[in-house]
Amino acid sequence: MRLRVLGTAAGGGLPQWNCACRGCSRARAAGPAVWRSQECLAVSASPDAWYLVNASPDVRTQILATPGLAPPGGTRHSPLRGVLLTDGELDHTAGLLALREGAALDLFAPAAVTAALTEDFPLRSLLAPYGAARWRPVAGELRLDDGRLRVTAIPVSDKRPRYAAGSTRPGPWVVAYRFDDAVTGAAAVYAPSLARWPEELDAALSGVGCVILDGTFWSEDEMERVTGHGPGARAMGHLPIGGVGGTLGRLRGRTGIRCLYTHLNNTNPAADPASRERSVLADALVEVASDGQDIRL
Ligand code: MLT
Ligand code: MN
Ligand code: ZN
Repeated sequence: MRLRVLGTAAGGGLPQWNCACRGCSRARAAGPAVWRSQECLAVSASPDAWYLVNASPDVRTQILATPGLAPPGGTRHSPLRGVLLTDGELDHTAGLLALREGAALDLFAPAAVTAALTEDFPLRSLLAPYGAARWRPVAGELRLDDGRLRVTAIPVSDKRPRYAAGSTRPGPWVVAYRFDDAVTGAAAVYAPSLARWPEELDAALSGVGCVILDGTFWSEDEMERVTGHGPGARAMGHLPIGGVGGTLGRLRGRTGIRCLYTHLNNTNPAADPASRERSVLADALVEVASDGQDIRL
């Protein structure tokens, strides 16, 4: 199985266009080599069948930067077979607009998310005249790539996107995914939005070689400290990395699993490789994913 990390920043990216906080200023000064585009992953068990997890607003540039996702020949062909959405957030779905030229892509999403993308942020109806995207529910185990790639959705929370904050639709609104290569036995978990740590996540981590998870914030009050406003990390749908109940405590001591953080907000000090927070992660043998990273399992 192969994971290509296409983007690793939370909504807005790093640097964010209208921000000169410490992290954004550092990134702006260092130049594009250290910039982070908005979180997106590509996964495959065989080279001619790739699936995106989430479709970030940066998806076109991300695909162009990834040789394995180039069309093998001819016109209107792509090794990209579909997109799996973890939730309906704008930074995970707006990129679907940029994929409208695509031949029939399979779009997988939890039922509440598909409904929100039909009514509240009506991507589904907007895209319908452009192509034959097939919307598929995620429930139970999916078998993609002719059965080679098994995908299991792990319900995480009912955190709704801001544009659907008032929705009464039942969840789950946010899921994580476990991928299993039916041929090699390799397995990985992708969990970029963790408002809480569900029990099912511990079970899903059993036997995986790699987990890539929500690294939006280092601390609960980071947004307010850096930007002067903003709710806490948990209220925004993201367990912080550090502090009591943070996700790092959940990762410590998990031997045999490669652990990486993604979806870093531009306020997160761990985005800076020279930061104290990054050395705390290194001491715990936990990594921060980088754009373009290639992970083979
Ligand atoms: C999130 O991850 O909390 C959202 O993507 C925030 C946003 O709306 O940009
Ligand atoms: Mn986000
Ligand atoms: Zn900033």
